[in-house]
Amino acid sequence: MDFQKDSYGNELRLKAIEKFDLISNLEQLEEFKSELLGRKGSITDLIKNISTLPSDQKKDAGKNANLIKIFFQDLIQEKFDDYTSTDAEESNPTLDFSLPGRRKSHGSFHPTTVVVREITKVFTEMGFDLAEGPEVELDEYNFQKLNIPIDHPARDMWNTLWVDTTSDVNIQPLLLRTHTSPMQIRLMEKQNPPIRVIVPGKTYRYEATDATHEWQFCQVEGLVVDKGITFAHLKSTLEEFAQNMFGQKRKARFRCDFFPFVEPGAEVSIDCFKCDGDRDGCKVCSFTGWIEIMGAGMVHPEVLKGVGYDPEIYSGFAFGMGAERISMLRNGIDDVRLFYSNDLRFLKQFS
Ligand code: PHE
Repeated sequence: MDFQKDSYGNELRLKAIEKFDLISNLEQLEEFKSELLGRKGSITDLIKNISTLPSDQKKDAGKNANLIKIFFQDLIQEKFDDYTSTDAEESNPTLDFSLPGRRKSHGSFHPTTVVVREITKVFTEMGFDLAEGPEVELDEYNFQKLNIPIDHPARDMWNTLWVDTTSDVNIQPLLLRTHTSPMQIRLMEKQNPPIRVIVPGKTYRYEATDATHEWQFCQVEGLVVDKGITFAHLKSTLEEFAQNMFGQKRKARFRCDFFPFVEPGAEVSIDCFKCDGDRDGCKVCSFTGWIEIMGAGMVHPEVLKGVGYDPEIYSGFAFGMGAERISMLRNGIDDVRLFYSNDLRFLKQFS
């Protein structure tokens, strides 16, 4: 190139850029670099030639040449980095394909969810509907409409967590529901018989926790109301449930118990699935041969009246069980606190 004519290097710059655009590998880049910046390179020549220029041009030509030199040095370096960094990765990969993979941990259902689903399945297969209700409940539904008036001693059975509503006198007392039974009332108020429904849900009690008591747990309530429902229906339904949950051999035992919203009330037990109700019993059944699984009874006529049903026409039964207790029995879990202490070693066993 005639540097006398292109003493500012403008033409050189344009040509070099065109050439640079065609470079496709490191070898070509090295070649380009030496053509331009090497000992005999065009930019080197351009700079050398500045001394031969008329003195009034030297300063500007020198400045220009220097800018061109820096421009190409940077351009070449950038491209060089591009090539060498990918080359380096290919020959020395940072990803080691021979390493064993890291397994992604799966979430799983909580054991309470698992057992609630099992219980729900047994009852829905028998034709029950499914409903849910509020966990923060009115005193009226948790107690009064269930035949437990204010100041009735039966309230002692359900030591309670109250929600502070003292700031607003118009609001009725609210509490964290102590059982799912208030849903009996809510459902009966909303519809006419026939009713056949189960209601799983969280319940809360003011408890000192120990191996068999939690302050928060899950219950499954059941309610059947229609014309001509008798204690025989209650017995056969719950026996069927016990056999589905604990094995076809199971027998159910019904003994008198007191709940203000049922009459008669019963405590339902099954013969021990571990020792088959052996006379001497075993640890699971506390050496009695029987395991209590729920409370039940015929819906109290006062409760039916309270929701506007005529107890002369309609009758029904209700039952309520602790979901965790059913899971504990089925899975041989000896401490209810394990359910909510977030120990993955425990929780993972139910996935
Ligand atoms: N709600 C009662 C409890 O929590 C259980 C129950 C439900 C008893 C329905 C009878 C009928 O203890």
